[in-house]
Amino acid sequence: MSDEFYEDRLLSGTKGEYDVEENALRPQAMEDYVGQEKVKGNLSVYMSAAKARGEALDHVLLYGPPGLGKTTLAHIIANTMGTQIKLTSGPAIERSGDLAAILTNLNEGDVLFIDEIHRLNHTVEEILYSAMEDYALDIIVGKGPSARNIRFSLKKFTLIGATTRAGMLSSPLRDRFGILCRLDMYSPAELQQIVERSARKLGIAIDGEGGYEIARRSRGTPRIANRLLKRVRDFSVVSGSGVVGKEDARRALSHMEIDELGLDETDRNLLRALIEKFGGGPAGLDTLAATINEDVNTIEDVYEPYLLQLGFIARTPRGRVCLKGGYEHMGIPVSEKIRKQLSLFGDGE
Ligand SMILES: Nc1ncnc2c1ncn2[C@@H]1O[C@H](COP(=O)(O)OP(=O)(O)O)[C@@H](O)[C@H]1O
Ligand SMILES: [Mg+2]
Repeated sequence: MSDEFYEDRLLSGTKGEYDVEENALRPQAMEDYVGQEKVKGNLSVYMSAAKARGEALDHVLLYGPPGLGKTTLAHIIANTMGTQIKLTSGPAIERSGDLAAILTNLNEGDVLFIDEIHRLNHTVEEILYSAMEDYALDIIVGKGPSARNIRFSLKKFTLIGATTRAGMLSSPLRDRFGILCRLDMYSPAELQQIVERSARKLGIAIDGEGGYEIARRSRGTPRIANRLLKRVRDFSVVSGSGVVGKEDARRALSHMEIDELGLDETDRNLLRALIEKFGGGPAGLDTLAATINEDVNTIEDVYEPYLLQLGFIARTPRGRVCLKGGYEHMGIPVSEKIRKQLSLFGDGE
């Protein structure tokens, strides 16, 4: 299945057609960036220190599931440092010459943001090593016996890499980032703040309970919260009430088949397959994906993180297992045999 396929789905954290106003909703300053207190705290210290020394900020790797605020944070870092930001992505840089051109055009202190940095091809990635470490560009000129290595120096810049898969980065690349930041899923209270802020910006009247209802069904993900807010607004326009309240939100969300916890049909299919076809697991990811006719990467990036966070499933060396919470959510009783198995994973009472 193609990337575009899941990009347009309502619940995926990846960008899609509902996100045209996304840039308008992006907070511009650290004070407006909700949550992620540890990451914000650390970055603020490193940024003030770099500023005090008059140096570029060390290279930053931002990782975590789609829609948690990596791109937003990269912009905020550049704003705070008072520098320009250049945006590109792993798949967009095809040849090492493309990257060399980008690098030589950077000014002192500029931020180069490479989204999906785990998708850089290997020859391009190798150019980054000396660029990050020594602010130098090593280029081979000529062919065969007359080939020579020429080194150009670059301005001191900051590379910000973003990835949903820190584990897919090669270690030479990962080791060149001085600052590693893992973004966590947001609490419902944090998402409610984000929903209320976005509602003000979009001119949507919503009360506290309405905001909370959206927040708790947003799978810990700001992008999904903003997207659900817009869909709920569409519904309340149709139903004609002036202010979006709890009932408007509930009605809209259940119409979209998003349940109490924010799970959609695919999540439920996954849990059901794991329970009914694989006796609760362990089932390998590929097998599971094939069974529910879903793309493996989509499951790993979009569906699993939230099901893991909820404690509905677990990853074991032999595959995925459904935990007690997953059975309960699906309304399927846990047999005595499964109960014994689960206690092996510490998932007893
Ligand atoms: N901490 C946050 N506070 C407020 N809004 C946020 C926050 N993180 C993300 N958002 C919102 O969610 C949307 C998606 O964030 P983005 O940075 O594009 O995610 P990512 O790059 O990780 O996929 C942005 O438009 C932004 O409005
Ligand atoms: Mg992004």
